[in-house]
Amino acid sequence: MSNQKNAFVFNKENEIKAKEILLKYPTDRRQSAIMPLLDLAQRQNENWLSRDIVEYVADYLEMPFIKAWEVVTFYSMYYTKYNGKYLVQVCGTTPCWLRGSDQVIKACKEVISPEPNTVSSDGLFSWMQVECLGACVNAPLVQINDDYYEDLTYDTTKNVLQSLIDGSPLSIGSQSGRKSSKAVS
Ligand code: FES
Repeated sequence: MSNQKNAFVFNKENEIKAKEILLKYPTDRRQSAIMPLLDLAQRQNENWLSRDIVEYVADYLEMPFIKAWEVVTFYSMYYTKYNGKYLVQVCGTTPCWLRGSDQVIKACKEVISPEPNTVSSDGLFSWMQVECLGACVNAPLVQINDDYYEDLTYDTTKNVLQSLIDGSPLSIGSQSGRKSSKAVS
């Protein structure tokens, strides 16, 4: 991580994307693009937003910083601190809990950190417990950045994390071998 003070600008690719996003809104409603532009900035910056980056996006949209900051701090998909390369969100709501999310959390504690919201010593991961991720039919599951890993056990959770550490191939979705959310045969 570098010091972000006054350093952030959209890279070339994201500058093009930002302009494309702005085309979706009336020219006198630039501020309506705040959410996708914050998302774009967050993806460019290792999945987190510093105050300076939020200031940059607010300036980009010609809106007050505090309005942009209100959006950042209201929605749970924006992060104001570095969470590691991979943010592991473990669903702990009832269907996942009944299907063994405690074992998923146990694996995260062992591989990543005993405490949630703590970046692992290698800087790769952090984990947190969240409420229903909307895929209860494949419980228990985790969301890692944009991807879901489902039908997890203690062992398969460890396998998923180890594959990310090793950079080895990894399939998203069910880790039990069943196809999408078809009934287990
Ligand atoms: S309860 Fe875990 S995805 Fe719904």
